[in-house]
Amino acid sequence: LNFNKAKFTTAFSAKSKPPEDRFIEVAFAGRSNAGKSSSLNTLTGQKKLARTSSKPGRTQQINFFGIDDKRFLVDLPGYGYAAVSKSLKQEWQGLMEGFLRSRQSLRGVVIIMDIRHPLKENDIQMIEWCDERALPMHLVLTKADKLKKNKINQTLFSVQKSVSDIKTDISVQVFSSETRLGLPELKSKISNWMKA
Ligand code: GTP
Ligand code: MG
Repeated sequence: LNFNKAKFTTAFSAKSKPPEDRFIEVAFAGRSNAGKSSSLNTLTGQKKLARTSSKPGRTQQINFFGIDDKRFLVDLPGYGYAAVSKSLKQEWQGLMEGFLRSRQSLRGVVIIMDIRHPLKENDIQMIEWCDERALPMHLVLTKADKLKKNKINQTLFSVQKSVSDIKTDISVQVFSSETRLGLPELKSKISNWMKA
């Protein structure tokens, strides 16, 4: 798969209709500011494909990026962002939850976590939703450039150990959008999920 071909296709929010549910999709989920949009940009080799921000809550809709005419990467709004109104938070949460619970096109979910703050309560909740639907999951510990090598390995090991208690097979990797560490691994995971 040539991820560099990705193009913005469409967005939808609580107020609009989702696009047709009959293709192949992989969604990027994670806490606000974890680095979802940045990792999508690194994956596709495009600096400005998905909008990123140092302020949490940047992505407020569900954005679709087409790789070809039937494969889409989906950027979800972040969860767990405290500084928005309760009603807005519920709107995003409902949008995301509805999508993850019902979307037939989903082949897998990439769960992005800041390697310095992995497996927070909301992440566990996300893992449980996906598990209920038997959706394959891939955990990406991003911003690895912020830590030293032994701390990186320590965190990887402990996250692997924690998720191995949850029954489905969940893979875990280290990543950095800054240095592109782990890019081949992420590409290969998503390519496998997106096989026709
Ligand atoms: P929301 O859309 O608000 O949920 O955030 P997001 O998860 O899409 O995060 P985004 O990609 O916008 O990144 C948030 C901040 O983290 C930005 O300031 C990025 O530059 C920074 N960031 C993302 N990935 C990395 C990384 O691998 N390394 C470093 N050092 N910074 C990163
Ligand atoms: Mg984002």
